[in-house]
Amino acid sequence: MTTRSIITLPDEKILRQVSKPLKQVDAAARTLFDDMLETMYDAPGIGLAAIQIGVPLRALVVDLAKEGEDKKPLFVANPEIVASSAELSDYEEGCLSIPEFYEMVQRPRDITVHYLDRNNEAMELTATGLLATCLQHEIDHLNGVLFIDHISKLKRDRVVKKFQKAAKLGKL
Ligand code: NI
Repeated sequence: MTTRSIITLPDEKILRQVSKPLKQVDAAARTLFDDMLETMYDAPGIGLAAIQIGVPLRALVVDLAKEGEDKKPLFVANPEIVASSAELSDYEEGCLSIPEFYEMVQRPRDITVHYLDRNNEAMELTATGLLATCLQHEIDHLNGVLFIDHISKLKRDRVVKKFQKAAKLGKL
């Protein structure tokens, strides 16, 4: 397993790409999954999409285990949300590609997802609460969508500008 570097704002050119489906979860995909997991644990974070390490494939990893608990990684390829609840829930979200920025986001409380797991097996998962939020956040990444797209334009513009400015200062 290799830790890869995480792409952050202001590099929207990569983060805004729409990722392509995997043909199957083969040995190369499993290596990608393992690198993503190691990168996510190292960050640390609870979810990571392949595009965040610059790979435009529809793959994501999630692990909601708390510190001290046994790790419970979830490997998800080609996810499709097949049902979403009308009930919404609010979570303060963050993103490894937008470090140190957190904001409340409202999303469907429960979702059902079809996907391929690490063994290329077709799975169905019904998630609620934080897991549902996390999966929706990561699936958004596969479509080039960031959680700041779900907040007000004013707040979004402010955070994007902050990262542009920081990058510019770093180059001077
Ligand atoms: Ni994210």
